Amino acid sequence: MRLDVVTIFPEYLEPLNVSLVGKARARGRLDVHVHDLRRWTYDRHHTVDDTPYGGGPGMVMKTEPWGEALDEVTAAGYEAGAHGPVLVVPTPSGRPFTQEVAVELSRRPWLVFTPARYEGIDRRVTDEYATRMPVYEVSIGDYVLAGGEAAVLVITEAVARLLPGVLGNAESHRDDSFAPGAMANLLEGPVYTKPPVWRGHGIPDVLLSGHHGKIARWRRDEALRRTARHRPDLIERCDPAAFDKKDRETLSNLGWAPEPGGRFWRRPDDVEE
Ligand code: ADE
Repeated sequence: MRLDVVTIFPEYLEPLNVSLVGKARARGRLDVHVHDLRRWTYDRHHTVDDTPYGGGPGMVMKTEPWGEALDEVTAAGYEAGAHGPVLVVPTPSGRPFTQEVAVELSRRPWLVFTPARYEGIDRRVTDEYATRMPVYEVSIGDYVLAGGEAAVLVITEAVARLLPGVLGNAESHRDDSFAPGAMANLLEGPVYTKPPVWRGHGIPDVLLSGHHGKIARWRRDEALRRTARHRPDLIERCDPAAFDKKDRETLSNLGWAPEPGGRFWRRPDDVEE
């Protein structure tokens, strides 16, 4: 997969050299190119922003540097043999970046990121490139960052670990929380490793029982418990067919009950601490 990032803070993308993404690069799974947007400015101050039409606070990133940068970056990519680019625009007004979007992007051969500072990029830039390639405007969460660079790191890490040969174990992400097609989207429960007792804290006996069925059931119950506590919206959204008899029993013990349509709702008078 080829990645191009155009930014006014190339050094912000340094983490792409380390850890899992760095390894993916070293293994030749990822070909990363970071470009300084100011290379495509021609005034003394290397201006990339200007005041917004219609007034209002903040500054808007200008069309010309972005247009020239994206033209040159995509031309260079095509010349190097890349194909099928997708423009990924991190913005708080994008659609939520989810595991499903990560999987979608991991299947693309070439991602071009345009992290913006200030109030964002002049709309005509995305409109222009939308005529040439798919555009994904994505938000990594309901908060506002000072710029999109951190979002590029987040998206790249989520995508890179899905590339074949990067995690090492093809099974590793099948059980991810939020994996698309997971029976029910549950958060993963707690995990333990050696030693068996640490500062007086033991581990649940069932994990030492060697009984795979009981261990799987325990893990499922812990996942339900954690999801019910931290993300009740995920339980409410679940197709009731995703819950087996024991799931229903566990949910009922946690204060949840099926409504007539079958979906689960927490009984309001029975909220667990
Ligand atoms: N830029 C600023 N805030 C952002 C967010 N929440 N997601 C993606 N890009 C952003």
